[in-house]
Amino acid sequence: MHIHKFEKIWLIFGITTLIVFLSVIGVSAFYLGNQPPSCLATINPEKVDTTAPFDEPGLKKVEGKEWDYELVFVASAFAYNPGQVEVPKGAKVKVIATTKDVIHGFQVAGTNINMMLEPGYISEYVTTFDKAGDYLIVCNEYCGVGHHMMSSKIKVVE
Ligand code: CUA
Repeated sequence: MHIHKFEKIWLIFGITTLIVFLSVIGVSAFYLGNQPPSCLATINPEKVDTTAPFDEPGLKKVEGKEWDYELVFVASAFAYNPGQVEVPKGAKVKVIATTKDVIHGFQVAGTNINMMLEPGYISEYVTTFDKAGDYLIVCNEYCGVGHHMMSSKIKVVE
């Protein structure tokens, strides 16, 4: 069978890029330990208010963990609880969030925190707020008539 020269080059290029991309994914997942950030933990969405840590939303200092604080958020149509929270600058914070009803978003404007909150699942993200200031949390998943009013605020203080 005769294969045209350009076709051969194209085939080699395609197979090489495939191998490169699969290697990148493999090294990232199995050597560097990168995993999808959410949906690893589940919760009964009807019992969010009585399930720890969601029975006490807000910031809590923790000991003996890789992070200094846990910041717990409960989302429901059309608000976040807490509606505003203060976080000390430079602290390592684990954000833990879930929703009581429908899918909501959890995007902290100006940072790379952007999670989807799904009923029945707990979304988590560990981060450090290095800059003082106000950070707006917005819902970026359409969740109903009050979607555009759904927000909260993280105040990073010295
Ligand atoms: Cu909650 Cu949109």
